[in-house]
Amino acid sequence: MASRHGAEVLVASNRGPVSYEVRPDGADGSLHAKRGGGGLVSGLSAIGSDASAVWVCAALGDGDREAVRRAAGGLLPEEDTGGQRVRMLDIDAAVFADAYNGIANSVLWFVHHMLYQTPLEPVFDAGFRRQWASYRAYNEAFARALAEEAAPGAAVLIQDYHLALAPRMLRELRPDLRIGHFSHTPWAPPDYFRLLPDDIAAELLEGILGADRAAFLTRRWADAFTDCCRAVLDSGVPSGTRIGVHGLGADADFLRERAHREDVGERMAALRAEIGEGRRAIVRVDRTELSKNIVRGLLAYRELLEDHPEWRERVVHVAFAYPSRQDLAVYRDYTAEVQRVADEINSTFGTPGWTPVVLHVKDDFARSLAAYRLADVALVNPIRDGMNLVAKEVPVVSDEGCALVLSREAGAYEELGESAIVVNPYDIGGTARALHEALTLPPAERADRSKQLAAAATALPPTRWFLDQLTALDD
Ligand code: F6P
Repeated sequence: MASRHGAEVLVASNRGPVSYEVRPDGADGSLHAKRGGGGLVSGLSAIGSDASAVWVCAALGDGDREAVRRAAGGLLPEEDTGGQRVRMLDIDAAVFADAYNGIANSVLWFVHHMLYQTPLEPVFDAGFRRQWASYRAYNEAFARALAEEAAPGAAVLIQDYHLALAPRMLRELRPDLRIGHFSHTPWAPPDYFRLLPDDIAAELLEGILGADRAAFLTRRWADAFTDCCRAVLDSGVPSGTRIGVHGLGADADFLRERAHREDVGERMAALRAEIGEGRRAIVRVDRTELSKNIVRGLLAYRELLEDHPEWRERVVHVAFAYPSRQDLAVYRDYTAEVQRVADEINSTFGTPGWTPVVLHVKDDFARSLAAYRLADVALVNPIRDGMNLVAKEVPVVSDEGCALVLSREAGAYEELGESAIVVNPYDIGGTARALHEALTLPPAERADRSKQLAAAATALPPTRWFLDQLTALDD
């Protein structure tokens, strides 16, 4: 097969490094490009801007689709991508919706984060099978594009649960390629994974096993994958596929520089005014998403105020809960529940000079960094999480050093557990006690722990995470 751009290194992920908004101010609607943030983008950006690397991603919304239509030769304009060569795929909107909302975020996300609630879920009916056909088509579109772009023997790094079938499909199209798959989520243990219909469970595993290497954020998730292969497939993990672990850490240089810019300073002043001088801040920053366990975090804070009235007027829970996946009712309902519980706490405990919960839902990266800098305590209590970069970012950025209340079910626990105050995320009372402990840590101990957390959090910078995978694929 002729290679269109002769790429030696390729990355494939659902969300790319840039997204577009259509602005209704030009005759045709002008396009505004926005670069994504977070560890995934900074890690994968180590792919660099040389001509031998291509990042393949999907068009997510109308702005992206319009940008793809205008893109010459399939690649987005380099002024939008910071010089990176990015090919965005215009997958049929209905196919994309089924694959992303239906299968990836309503089924695979729920399986790996163990979020289903009986008796209504899961539902594997004819509608599910139709969505599964779209998920296959979405994976095929990626496999075809990667096969077109890759030079002979190129290295291809395929990301996440959206693209579990693509490695095998690509292997069939291009046996010469070196293919890696990386899961950014937890992996479900076999008893839970086998909720999936048997043929689907097998297809998912075999899809990933089409790669030369399947890699995970922690040993725990890698072992769960191997256990699922043993439970579902007669052959287990075949000798041709290696299993790897690559932790992803915070990007310290980027974060520290970005957190000291003027816009962050302005937001710190505004946030401090909202919190009130001299008050302690318990900070959390999440996408509003069920696995993040925001409601139980609020209920734990409520219990803290009940059990320890001495904290009333002296502490504020700063919760940034940025809406995510709002096409799905279950995520919209969860967002509404977060708002309802926050309002309820404020009306029960609030006083004219004190708002116990400061909740913001509009995504603002500079304000998130401002909250990190002001944090006395960071609350990270997911039900399950592949890694959780917020747990790693707050100690790196906080001005005075912070205590971390951390779920033992977050991947970050493996690296940060010793210096954090660890909680069972389902245990609201235990989380309330952990918040009290965090607020009462002696200052010297808090500073020590915060330093240890920051050191562990930055041990695996995103660039190294990326390059290690490439090296491992060469071995
Ligand atoms: O945690 C896995 C992950 O794919 C992250 O890389 C990413 O932040 C998120 O899930 C996907 O979110 P979204 O649906 O908003 O793209």
